[in-house]
Amino acid sequence: MKNIDWSSLGFGYTKTDYNVRCHYKDGKWGAVEVSDSEMLSIHMSSTCLHYGQEAFEGLKAFRGKDGRIRVFRCEENAKRMISSANYVMMKAPPVALFTEAVNKAIRLNEAYVPPYESGASLYIRPLLIGIGPQMGVAPAKEFLFVVFVAPVGPYFKAGFKPVKAMLERKYDRAAPNGTGHVKVGGNYAAGMFSTHEAHEKGYALSIFLDSKEKRYIDECGPANFFGIKNDTYVTPSAHTILPSITNDSLMTLAKELGMTVERRKIPVEELATFDEAGGCGTAAVISPVGIIDDPESGQRITVGSPDTAGPWSTKLYNHLRSIQYGDSPDTFGWVTFVE
Ligand code: PLP
Ligand code: COI
Repeated sequence: MKNIDWSSLGFGYTKTDYNVRCHYKDGKWGAVEVSDSEMLSIHMSSTCLHYGQEAFEGLKAFRGKDGRIRVFRCEENAKRMISSANYVMMKAPPVALFTEAVNKAIRLNEAYVPPYESGASLYIRPLLIGIGPQMGVAPAKEFLFVVFVAPVGPYFKAGFKPVKAMLERKYDRAAPNGTGHVKVGGNYAAGMFSTHEAHEKGYALSIFLDSKEKRYIDECGPANFFGIKNDTYVTPSAHTILPSITNDSLMTLAKELGMTVERRKIPVEELATFDEAGGCGTAAVISPVGIIDDPESGQRITVGSPDTAGPWSTKLYNHLRSIQYGDSPDTFGWVTFVE
């Protein structure tokens, strides 16, 4: 194992030894190649650079107490990349190629998978881009699929504590029938100005509203939103919302723990009725949200205790992490091993 101060790692890039790459050319995918370079050499007229023809994924691998490396729901990320690729007219790596490349990237960088005790993990970033010389606005004919990894986290340096969020009244992240449901780079560029403004005002994140009526909760920064009340887990579902694999997992665990799960529109006014709220995604599992300010009305909504994560959020967070690290049985078949 590498000599890294695992506990000082945040969610950032750290160089590892290898990445893997695969080219789509002349109508087919080539072999999975190993590279020790951090650089890509691509044509300056590539569609990914000019027209944002790109998609990415994010998933994690965990080292268990037993030393074995577990990857969480890789097949779901593979399927989501296919969905993203289809929508922006790219060729997607089939599920088998995606999982082969992910496993290979982990195996080659096995020494960077943090030790169990650190609470850190290996973040895996699959990337798909349109490449090749092209000027007109049209799908590329060549694609490059890259998988690189970086040891990250523990995400909450200050502990698993609620953050302050701002309702985003001015800007939209995705159009009603646009690209919000897929994981393409443009969505993240579209959210950066809003996030920047939120940070400037002292908020950890902005909560986007539906871009048509501005009445319903959409995404919670780069994560799905959930609220909890009366033992019920409520999360919005809309075309503009990325189908989060973490959220799907939390809904499954919530049901298992005896909660009711509702996927429906959440009107802004309902926020004040939740006992717990948060964002959920691969990076943090759950980011509890304790305070939500509405800059339009000046209203401050306090959800549960502003200092402590709520009991259901804590239970769900611990349960999911214990499956990921292999401390609880994987009853849903979410974990695959890298041998
Ligand atoms: N929503 C957005 C916009 C995201 O970027 C992410 C992160 O991947 C999520 C939701 C959460 O998805 P997942 O749980 O699959 O990581
Ligand atoms: C997540 O994993 O929750 C994210 O939002 C990833 C982000 C870095 C794109």
